[in-house]
Amino acid sequence: MPRGAAPPRETAVGIIGGGPAGLLLARLLHRAGVDCVVLESRDRDYVEQRQRAGILEQGTTDVLRACGAGERLDREGLVHDGIELRYDRRAHRLDFPALTGRRVTVYAQTEVVKDLIALQLADGPPLLFGARALAVTGADTDRPRIHYAHGGREHTLTCGYVAGCDGFHGVARQAVPESARRTYTRGYPYSWLGVLADAPPAHDELVYAHSERGFALLSMRTPTVSRLYLQVPNGTDPADWPDERIWDELQARAAVDTAPWNPVRGPLTAKAVLPLRSSVTEPMRWGRVLLAGDAAHIVPPTGAKGLNLAVADVTVLARALVHRHRTGSAELLDGYSATCLRRVWRAEHFSHFMTTTLHTAPDQSPFDTRLQLAALDRIAGSRHAAAELAENYTGLPLP
Ligand code: APR
Ligand code: PHB
Repeated sequence: MPRGAAPPRETAVGIIGGGPAGLLLARLLHRAGVDCVVLESRDRDYVEQRQRAGILEQGTTDVLRACGAGERLDREGLVHDGIELRYDRRAHRLDFPALTGRRVTVYAQTEVVKDLIALQLADGPPLLFGARALAVTGADTDRPRIHYAHGGREHTLTCGYVAGCDGFHGVARQAVPESARRTYTRGYPYSWLGVLADAPPAHDELVYAHSERGFALLSMRTPTVSRLYLQVPNGTDPADWPDERIWDELQARAAVDTAPWNPVRGPLTAKAVLPLRSSVTEPMRWGRVLLAGDAAHIVPPTGAKGLNLAVADVTVLARALVHRHRTGSAELLDGYSATCLRRVWRAEHFSHFMTTTLHTAPDQSPFDTRLQLAALDRIAGSRHAAAELAENYTGLPLP
């Protein structure tokens, strides 16, 4: 939106949130000729720098390419054919193409967001940074309104529909009356300490390591930057983890007898402790307000589903809103919540399985550990069990 232009007062679809869900929905609607506006509370730098996961399912990369956001992704994304599971000092690789015919792409969420913002600022629709939605009213009318603060003043955006893409801490979810809102949640007795390392990746694919010392994940951003995670107790202060302690612990947890690992110990940055949480809010629609992405559901990052679920939601939502725009029929909107929730709960189950199988809980018994090792052995020894994990990890076909 040109600097200084008056904020829009009406739109067909008001989108709250300029993360992956809101930005991709805006792109899909804009390309289909549906008028929309994105309200993002933070500034551009903040949104583009937020460290998040970086695994894109094949369905996600297909959608990004189809809407014109695939050029840098294809140039810089790292296509991966598998992951490695490590446990009991052994390693087992899952071959995705052999098991599912699909692969994944390593491309950070920050880069997806940068690409979508650049496209939107170049040719629309309006994207307002520093625009914080305060409330959504009239969800059960045909003119819902978003009340928001921007430029030191309060404004109202009158919409045909409102898309709540404002994440776990957003306001859109409150448009579903408490009496009708069902929230299912699960916490975990551990968190992740995540860091960026100026060091080449430990392995050419991602490594998920089970260890009685705790879980470790060896991921990457580029051929020279690693993204590394350690399971830590909830409430851990990153300051208690100097670089050497992190490298020592990563090496201890990811150790296997067949391939000693002496990582290049580059400097660590972006140290942050991330809590793990599972949460689903039902329904994902109330009248003319529709929830998508983290505004409706949260998964622990172990299964790398968060961004991909957001993409799946807005793919379904864009299809439904375009259908409504072109035909006047709300039939696809009527099925939106049920269609998305089937996939959401599948991803919740998979993410919970990966999390509870790979992490060592503080009060875990030796019996629990043996169950975990039996599950991992089953995956290593059975094509069917390996295919079940690979199908979920590489992503089920989009609805
Ligand atoms: N008004 C306007 N914008 C808001 C408000 C508000 N009241 N509240 C939150 N936002 C913005 C946030 O600043 C953020 O940019 O909504 C956006 C929500 O983005 P995400 O939290 O990234 O959620 P989503 O777009 O659904 O993407 C899900 O992001 O958080 C990760 O792990 C998650 O990978 C998953 C992906
Ligand atoms: C990441 O690269 O940030 C990442 C990768 C896979 C996960 C979680 C995070 O499961």
